[in-house]
Amino acid sequence: MNIQAVFKDGIMTVKKVICWAFMLFFVVGCSSSQQLHGPRGEVFDRAAVVSAQALASDIGVAVLKKGGNAVDASIAVQFALAVVYPNAGNIGGGGFMLYRGKTGDIAALDFREKAPAAASRDMYLDKAGNPITELSLLGQLASGVPGSVAGMDAAYKRYGSLPWKQLLQPAIDLAEKGFPISERQAEEFNAHKAKFEKYNPRGAAIIRDTPWKAGDIFVQQELASTLMRIAQSGRDGFYRGETADLIVAEMKAGNGLITHQDLQDYEAVWRTPIEGSYKGFRVISMPPPSSGGIALLALLQSLEPYPLKKWGFQSDSTVRAIVEAERRVYADRASYLGDPDFYNVPVAQLTDAKFNQERMRQVSLQKATPSDMVKASIFDGVEPEHTTHFCVVDKDGNAVSLTTTINDAYGSSVWVSGAGFLLNNEMDDFSVKAGSPNLYGLIGGKANAIAPHKRMLSAMTPTILEKDGKLSMVVGTPGGSTIITSVLQSILNVLEFDMTAQESVDAPRFHHQWKPDRVDVEDGAIAEQVRQSLTKDGYSIHKRKPYGRVENIVILPNGKLQTGADRRGDDTAKGY
Ligand code: DON
Repeated sequence: MNIQAVFKDGIMTVKKVICWAFMLFFVVGCSSSQQLHGPRGEVFDRAAVVSAQALASDIGVAVLKKGGNAVDASIAVQFALAVVYPNAGNIGGGGFMLYRGKTGDIAALDFREKAPAAASRDMYLDKAGNPITELSLLGQLASGVPGSVAGMDAAYKRYGSLPWKQLLQPAIDLAEKGFPISERQAEEFNAHKAKFEKYNPRGAAIIRDTPWKAGDIFVQQELASTLMRIAQSGRDGFYRGETADLIVAEMKAGNGLITHQDLQDYEAVWRTPIEGSYKGFRVISMPPPSSGGIALLALLQSLEPYPLKKWGFQSDSTVRAIVEAERRVYADRASYLGDPDFYNVPVAQLTDAKFNQERMRQVSLQKATPSDMVKASIFDGVEPEHTTHFCVVDKDGNAVSLTTTINDAYGSSVWVSGAGFLLNNEMDDFSVKAGSPNLYGLIGGKANAIAPHKRMLSAMTPTILEKDGKLSMVVGTPGGSTIITSVLQSILNVLEFDMTAQESVDAPRFHHQWKPDRVDVEDGAIAEQVRQSLTKDGYSIHKRKPYGRVENIVILPNGKLQTGADRRGDDTAKGY
């Protein structure tokens, strides 16, 4: 928190109290845990990497120091996270990479998982037509065809500069020699033990008789061998040969659908980024099959006319305006967003500033609009906790914002036997049945129905901001449906509420996603007075455990890189 700014402005007092209470909660809450994360909130002169795990951030910085660019570093970090952050880092999942080069050129890489060829619309429904939730979340049938290795391969072919093998070697070493796990990881490994045992009768490195504790060394020999095959043969080291054989054997050991053909056919896709503006900032974000870029831009456009700065951080009016915008944008998300290769997503209409602002003009900030009264918009001519994010800026100013996932924590719980990596449960991100909520309570319909080879809709929102032609911010987070609103709040915290990068990610958050009709709030996110006022006017306020792990890099006017690594995890910023 910028203390001077707080005291200069009387309105900021509430913000100060809320923020400091929240930060104190984290300091006290984290003090007992083994500190396996490095510093946070640092300012670096030339280059920075912010990720969910200190070792992965270190590896990214080492690549940058060897002369690698932001994409080289990102590839090394992605593979390192597959080893040191198994709950979300992956080679068995997918993700999105957003890139902005030093000259302002931009690109979006989609390496989202795809439905196998044998997938079908009703594959997770019972005879009565009701969803069998476990099937889309756990076990082999929950997995989409993984995209991460193809994604790294495509990114490398376009932008890579150091030798490919050199980018994988640190991950191979960590898998082979092991690394000390954090207290948080030990707790998670133990908490998931029963599930891992159930879905991995042939065993997995993570399953052992004695409970894990902080500082234990986690060795993953099979994963090291898989990474070596990828280092040796690039994408073929995953999608063909021994790794592919092991994946297909794993499918056959359960009820999985992924075939050799599915693996060979998988391609990452370069897509046109979503672009728009907010108060003079150029906003660049991820297009479909993520809903993130469209929804973020629609939210920023909806909020642009409101005097948020004057109203103040998490003030009564600020919360109302944000919640009402979120309710409407998420209603449209449910109807219109899906894989653009299968469904005609009305991108231009959904990101039209006039449309979003006109809609907000009808909205009362005096009373909650019940979500049942908010329907998806009608446009002419068109048919109707786990993931992880990292940010890299290199010494030349090239930037990468990358979110990657196996969906839920530890994905499908299936470790590919003999290959040592977890498979995703991304199939649950499809709308398994029109109107039925998924793991994150999100609903959808035709646009996001299951079909062979289709990509499931995502909320991941890797984002980059630019001001006056210069890189200004790199930001993103995990958090399922809350990703979009967490990215939104982190941006507003910097742009409107004068927070530093670290303060912007640590500040408590709130979230509304149309259905269910409630405002989810972290501890301390809104003052008691605001809560009472909102409740009186029809808002249902729902307490929620801390969510999201926002990482960001803010480029200061002097060109230095100010970092924010979310305190909600072991997240760490490194740089030089
Ligand atoms: O793509 C998506 O939107 C989800 N599969 C992301 C899941 C996620 O962020 C879980 N993390 N906490």
